[in-house]
Amino acid sequence: MPPAPGPHPLVALVTGASSGIGEATALRLAREPGARLVLVARREQRLRELAQALPVPATYIAVDLVEDDAPARVLAHVEEHHDRLTLLVNNAGSAWRATFAEGGWANVHRTMEVNFDAVVRLTEALLPALRASAPSAIVNVASTAGRVARAGAASYSASKFALAGWSDGLYAEEAAHGVHVGLVLPGFIATEGFPQTELRAKRATRWLVSTPERAAEAIVDAGLRGRAERYVPRGYALAAAARVLVPGLVRRVLSGGSASIMTTRTGADAAEHQAGTPVD
Ligand SMILES: NC(=O)c1ccc[n+]([C@@H]2O[C@H](COP(=O)([O-])OP(=O)(O)OC[C@H]3O[C@@H](n4cnc5c(N)ncnc54)[C@H](OP(=O)(O)O)[C@@H]3O)[C@@H](O)[C@H]2O)c1
Repeated sequence: MPPAPGPHPLVALVTGASSGIGEATALRLAREPGARLVLVARREQRLRELAQALPVPATYIAVDLVEDDAPARVLAHVEEHHDRLTLLVNNAGSAWRATFAEGGWANVHRTMEVNFDAVVRLTEALLPALRASAPSAIVNVASTAGRVARAGAASYSASKFALAGWSDGLYAEEAAHGVHVGLVLPGFIATEGFPQTELRAKRATRWLVSTPERAAEAIVDAGLRGRAERYVPRGYALAAAARVLVPGLVRRVLSGGSASIMTTRTGADAAEHQAGTPVD
């Protein structure tokens, strides 16, 4: 593990800062001495309100990270408002639940676009600034679903498996350049995008659901304290270990009907249902 303390003075860019884990991360990072923040997401008003509420200097840029010009726009914003970038938190992400037979390649494609391609493209644009500001760090927010896949969430798992694998390789590549790469793998966290309503409704499963603040603390562990990998809560590491050590058992459990409660409906599903525009 690299020596503490982490990158200072802290200039941190958080994607997906308009809600959930990203918002909690911005609030948590604002407690770091001398921190300055850059908030990124699509909903400008949310970002403006958060920037104004934070007790430290914060700028924001409203951008759809899937758009072609998004990385260049974010880079230009960073260069205009900040003299360095010491932490990039790639947290923005989304999920649409559908089996492959229902959602097909279209669902896989849109999920990869936001959860993987957009992360890689933004990191490519900001890596020179991170290297120039070293010691610095990148935190990629994947998911326990990036180690263990479930029915109805295969597209999401594909995107998070890709992100986890890419992060491991990037960790090894960037260490020599002073850019630490940390991976955070949340389990079930109740947020706007992932309300976990089904799990929270039952006493038997409520305990599985954690908070955005705990995820934010894990992001700080990975970004400022040099941790290479953090599950949230930590016990979810057991699910990932079981997938490797007893894959047959994990397959049996996850193929059973009772596992379907774990494929919870997402905010993106609800928005799509309201708009009446499912992917297929
Ligand atoms: N909550 C969980 O149970 C859980 C579990 C494992 C992993 N995760 C991961 O944690 C991350 C944060 O999720 P969350 O639970 O905090 O959900 P959330 O409340 O829906 O937050 C997602 C954030 O991503 C932003 N975003 C989505 N698409 C975007 C796009 N195309 N361009 C720019 N910003 C975009 C959203 O902002 P705008 O809508 O304003 O753009 C929002 O700020 C995601 O990567 C998710 O996959 C969550």
